[in-house]
Amino acid sequence: MISNIVTMGGVKSLRDIDVTGKKVLIRVDFNVPMDGQYNISDDSRIRAALPTINYCIDHNACSITLVSHLGQPKNGYDERFTLRHIQKRLERLLEKKIEFIDNLETLKVENAHCSIERIFLLENIRFFEGEKKNDPAFCQQLADLCDVYVNDAFGTSHRKDASTYGIADFAKIKVAGFLMMREIEAFTKALEKPIRPIALVVGGSKVSSKITLLTSVMPKIDKLIIGGAMSNTFLKALGYDMKASLVEDDFVEVAKEVLSEAKAKGVKIYLPVDVVATDSIEHPVDIKITPVQDVLEGFHAVDIGPATLKLFSEAIELSNTIIWNGPMGIYEMSQFSKGTFKLASFIAESYAFSIVGGGDTADAVEKAGEKDKFSFISTGGGASLELLEGKVLPGFEKLDRK
Ligand code: 3PG
Ligand code: MG
Repeated sequence: MISNIVTMGGVKSLRDIDVTGKKVLIRVDFNVPMDGQYNISDDSRIRAALPTINYCIDHNACSITLVSHLGQPKNGYDERFTLRHIQKRLERLLEKKIEFIDNLETLKVENAHCSIERIFLLENIRFFEGEKKNDPAFCQQLADLCDVYVNDAFGTSHRKDASTYGIADFAKIKVAGFLMMREIEAFTKALEKPIRPIALVVGGSKVSSKITLLTSVMPKIDKLIIGGAMSNTFLKALGYDMKASLVEDDFVEVAKEVLSEAKAKGVKIYLPVDVVATDSIEHPVDIKITPVQDVLEGFHAVDIGPATLKLFSEAIELSNTIIWNGPMGIYEMSQFSKGTFKLASFIAESYAFSIVGGGDTADAVEKAGEKDKFSFISTGGGASLELLEGKVLPGFEKLDRK
C-alpha cells in the first residue's frame, strides 16, 4: 500500500512550474501567537513562508497575493485578528513594501495592474463568509485572482477551507510551496525511510486525542515513549492508582489495547516510573517526587520525575530517529517544566534525526532554547498529527501531480 506521505510527496511544487509574468496567489499560514498588545511572540511561521515568497519575487511573478487566516474569528471583522498586526513584521523580514487590502473587489482592480514585485496582503481570510464554508462561489472568486495558486500553509493543510482546499477545484495551476514540500520531506525521512531504531515520544493531556496516532503509527516504530498526563491513563491501565491525577477513565481499556498491540508488534513501551506530583495545580504548596506506585492521596501528577528522565533519555540515546509530539508535563508552569525541557535537551544533544510536531511541543522546545539543534520543527500542530496518523491532508489532495 502506498503511504499517505508518499502520495503527498507526488504533488507538483513551485519548482515544477514557471511563475514569470504570472499572478500568483499564495496561501500561507501566518497564524502566529501574539501577546495582549499584539506583539508577535513567535514568528517562525512567517519566516517559514519566506522561501516561497522570495522565489516568486526572484522569478519575476507579475504579482503576489498573500492569503492567510489569523485566529478563529466567528462573525466577520474582529480587531483582534486583523492581519494588519503582522504586516510590519512581514515587511521587515521580506525587506519589501506590502500593500494591505481588505476586500476582494479592490484586490481584483489592483491586481489587474500588476507589475513585478507588487505584493498584496489580503485581510484575514476568515473574515470572509465563504472561507470556512468552503463555498464554491467564493473559491471561484479567489481562483479568479490568480494564474497560479500555491498552497504553502502546511499548518492549515488539515482544513477543508476555501483557500486551502476548494480553490484548487477552480485554479488553473495549483502547486505546493516549499514549506509544504519541506514538511513532507522531513516526515518522509522520519517515517518512510528512517534510520532505525525509531522512537515516537508522545505526551500532552489526552490519550483520546492521540489514539489514532498511536494505533496507526505502531507498525512503523520500534519504541513508544509516553509521558505527560496521557501516561496517567496508561499507568492506571497497568493497575497504578494515580490518585487526583488527570486520568481518562473511558480510555483505560483503549490504553490496555495499545499496550498489548505494542507487545504483539514488538514495540518497546516506556512509561514514567516516577512523577512530580502536587497538592494543587493552580496554587501548589506541596510538590513531591514520588514513584508511580506511591502518589499521595489528593496529589496530581504534573511532570515526569528524574528516574523517568533517565529511563527516557537512555531510550532516546539508542534511537536514530525520534519523533516528538506532546509535552511531558505542565511545562507552562516553571515548577513543572523540567521534564519537558530536559527531555528537549536530551533529544537535541542526541545524534538522531529529530522531528517535532505540535504547537505546544514546538513552543516548549523553543522555550528550552534547543530549537536550532532539532533536525526539523514542523510548523503544523493538528496537521502534523494527522500526517502521522496516516491521513492525506486536504491541502495536498487537489494539487497538480507530477
Ligand atoms: C493552527 O495554528 O492550528 C493552524 O493555523 C490552523 O488553525 P485552526 O486550528 O484555527 O484551523
Ligand atoms: Mg489548530
